[in-house]
Amino acid sequence: MTQLLWQKSGIKTDPSIMRFLAGNDIVLDRVLFSYDIKATKAHTRALGIAGLLNQTQVDRLVGELGKLEMLWENEEFVLDERFEDGHSAIESFLTDQLGELGGRVHLGRSRNDQVLVATRLYMIDSIDILSAHVHACSNAALTRAKQHEFDPMPGYTHLQRAVPSTVGLWMSSFAESFTDSLELLKHTRQWIDACPLGTAAGYGINLPLARNEVAQMLGFSRVMINPMAAQASRGKHELQVLSAMWQVMQDIRRLAWDLSLFSSAEFGFVHMPSDTITGSSIMPNKKNPDLAELLRASSAVVAGAISELQQIISLPSGYHRDLQLTKAPLIRAIQVTLDASALVADVILRTEFDLQRMSAAIDSAMLATDRAVDLTSQGVSFRQAYQTVADEIANTNEDVESTSAMESIHARVSIGGCANLCLDEIQCRLDQLTNQTTRCDCI
Ligand code: ARG
Repeated sequence: MTQLLWQKSGIKTDPSIMRFLAGNDIVLDRVLFSYDIKATKAHTRALGIAGLLNQTQVDRLVGELGKLEMLWENEEFVLDERFEDGHSAIESFLTDQLGELGGRVHLGRSRNDQVLVATRLYMIDSIDILSAHVHACSNAALTRAKQHEFDPMPGYTHLQRAVPSTVGLWMSSFAESFTDSLELLKHTRQWIDACPLGTAAGYGINLPLARNEVAQMLGFSRVMINPMAAQASRGKHELQVLSAMWQVMQDIRRLAWDLSLFSSAEFGFVHMPSDTITGSSIMPNKKNPDLAELLRASSAVVAGAISELQQIISLPSGYHRDLQLTKAPLIRAIQVTLDASALVADVILRTEFDLQRMSAAIDSAMLATDRAVDLTSQGVSFRQAYQTVADEIANTNEDVESTSAMESIHARVSIGGCANLCLDEIQCRLDQLTNQTTRCDCI
């Protein structure tokens, strides 16, 4: 391993202890590395603004950081066990290239604010990518809702047949849920859009750092003011990001549940795209909705990560090495969320609906509620009408049909009902949410 940034002379750390301390950090830091380099450039420039480095020094350091960025992108620089972590790798590269000048880059910062800012930038980018996926999911669901606005399907409660519904209502439920989650992502993005760099180890530093300029260079809309609060945001912000992402994953989980259920022979309402279906190694007849099932299970990974974070951040004020363990659950959960959400819009668009089977599954008993409501027009209370219809069902054992499923659907006229899905309103809200400005990268 290269020289440890913190090693004092005369003390040698046992290699097995060192391995335990470093953990999986170097692998996880691969995800954060490009953000760390970007933030290091901003910090270097800020040292120049504060007069702590001269222009030549700034240019040379930023130039080398640019080279490192390129080498990293082209996989010519490798983050491996030679380094304790990504932060040490940057300083080691600069020192190799520039000698003593490389050692000047860490003036006024700590790995504590360095990891905070890199993680923050990573989370913001991840939210932006996820937001695009969620927007596509919501749009796809709206497209299907428009295509099948009045196509009947059963509405279930307790998984028992309840009342007539439509494919339009079912699909637009996902459009609205995804839009809600998108809004939460947007708020979460605003909530974490604050620059922690310049708070050093958590107590500020005896230098006039150009904190506003650093925040601006990195595209943040404000700075995190209190250095202790900045430290305390580690894990807290991660938790909020994963909570917002979990909302998306539970929309996906519900969709995946519906698709796996409705694609069973018992329902036969949907046929998922054939390239999402797998077979069995033993039963030649099987067609398994593995994709839907793994989408469903992915939400558990995010929930597990949330729980892990909640336990880790039970800490007093200030930095603690415990916080290193927030990285793995964060990265694991973000990766699974981005991977899963990237596939969903296409599944929504390509799943086939068996409209005939859906319609045939609406039996006449499902019109009982409509009939009870209709009876109230004769002046009886709803409770009385309910009892009359319930008795009819119990005594006659015959159809109590008063209206057809189609009539029932067209009579559901209040906002959100089958005959008034307000798809344009949902679309409009979705579009408004998406017309947000994304983070500008001025570095
Ligand atoms: N790998 C460490 C982490 O993720 C970096 C910060 C180290 N800071 C320290 N004071 N030891 O937390």
